[in-house]
Amino acid sequence: MAPKWLKDAVFYEIYPQSFKDTNGDGIGDFNGIIEKLDYIKSLGCNALWINPCFDSPFKDAGYDVRDYKKVAPRYGTNNDLYRLFGEAHKKGIHVLLDLVPGHTSEEHEWFRQSQKAEKNEYTNRFIWTDFCFQGAKGLPYIGGESERSATYILNFFKCQPALNYGFLHPDEPWQLGIDHPDTIATREAMKDVMRFWLDHGCDGFRVDMAASLVKFDDEKKSGTSAIWKNVREMLDADYPEAAMVSEWSDPKLALRAGYHMDFYLNHPGGGYNSLMRDYQPAWWAGEEDKKDNSYFKKDADRDISRFLGEYMDWYEDTKEIGYISMLTCNHDTVRPRFNLEPDELKLAYAFLFTMPGVPYLYYGDEIGMRYLDLPTKEGGYFRTGSRTPMQWDESANLGFSDGCADSLYLPVDPAGDAPTVAGQEKDPYSLLNTVKALLALRHAQEDLQADAPFVPVCTEKGKPFVYQRGALLVAVNPAGTDVCAEVDADGRECLYKIGKAEAADGKLVMGPQSFVVLK
Ligand code: GLC
Ligand code: CA
Repeated sequence: MAPKWLKDAVFYEIYPQSFKDTNGDGIGDFNGIIEKLDYIKSLGCNALWINPCFDSPFKDAGYDVRDYKKVAPRYGTNNDLYRLFGEAHKKGIHVLLDLVPGHTSEEHEWFRQSQKAEKNEYTNRFIWTDFCFQGAKGLPYIGGESERSATYILNFFKCQPALNYGFLHPDEPWQLGIDHPDTIATREAMKDVMRFWLDHGCDGFRVDMAASLVKFDDEKKSGTSAIWKNVREMLDADYPEAAMVSEWSDPKLALRAGYHMDFYLNHPGGGYNSLMRDYQPAWWAGEEDKKDNSYFKKDADRDISRFLGEYMDWYEDTKEIGYISMLTCNHDTVRPRFNLEPDELKLAYAFLFTMPGVPYLYYGDEIGMRYLDLPTKEGGYFRTGSRTPMQWDESANLGFSDGCADSLYLPVDPAGDAPTVAGQEKDPYSLLNTVKALLALRHAQEDLQADAPFVPVCTEKGKPFVYQRGALLVAVNPAGTDVCAEVDADGRECLYKIGKAEAADGKLVMGPQSFVVLK
């Protein structure tokens, strides 16, 4: 059973570097998050996911952890984070931290010990071959950097050596099994990290590269799943209110492995991709630009079946066991404002926030912050453009920091019309106020929350997409023209609408770029 609070949870993802700086050093901090909790609450978000905020050399924005139990001094102290948990809880906000179980930083003390020629407790904490010139059977590896005569396996960037959870079917002397005491010790060490933060008031974890633990795992990820099931047993026994969300994007496997939620990410060709990011800029793959054919693009070739084909299969298979999490975007993706105009975003968000499961809003997407073209920072590469400072108001650095502009972690949007929270709060039709209205509606209607059944009603091309959530009927028309569906909605009460929507004589007529929820 998932913790009850997830039923009506709406998450806000914070990239701590860029949210709010309170001491003028140009980088966001815990006190800044505390200061903005009321704002987060006013949006209708009642849960947070904070990207890694632990001690790190920041070669991958903190996904290279040097000490799992100590926060990075640039954000504050451990006590500041504990205070953030406490203040958030007072306002009914749950807080998830980011757990990076697949790898550490090459500067982590476990890795330093593991590099030593002499055997010690950490010799097998990472995956090493047997010889300094030995390859790793196709896995990426590094040699020549340690006193130990062996090469080690990477999990992502060069700075991220893979922690050793074993191989499903070891067939080399250097490959340990998943039941080896040393690979079990890795799992137990990660559980110890989780307990540390849960005991200090954190409410669970977003788990980085959750499918990556056991090497040469089978298609069902049996080895990695066994580890997460073991973790879930600990949570169910000792922390039944703690929540876990995976970066896995295969809910059939992730939710069966014990996760409460799994992110629906934008893997190319995937269903989510067809909704909001069905384009391929040339800089991404070095090929030709591909025309934007996202479902929510006003002039696209409208076909919701590209999404439903994948989603319905996942949803039907997993609705009794956990939640699929829709997201506006995250710190790894291009912001949706890159290709969608604010009027298109309103409809995309209206859809995301009326779907089952637990939704996630990335900081700044509520005001339609732009994706900026910037040089890479902390291993961000193209992702850097989605990690710029939050735009609060018209003051210096758009209210992000009192520091001087060139001390900022990343520059703020230089555009004269850069959207800000203060600016949009005044405009009743702004994207920000639309997000607030949609989330307020979701909280008021149990049928719009995580559990109520989702049933597509009208999915034909050239018509509005109409779906049922429990007893409610929802319709969206992203096109720039009137469309009509033969759906009997006569006499239903309108709970919320964007644009024009009229039900009469067994027909639902939707104006250009419109959305409606009918009771
Ligand atoms: C995940 C994170 C990403 C990071 C990578 C390696 O995909 O979201 O930001 O670079 O894992 O930890
Ligand atoms: Ca700061």
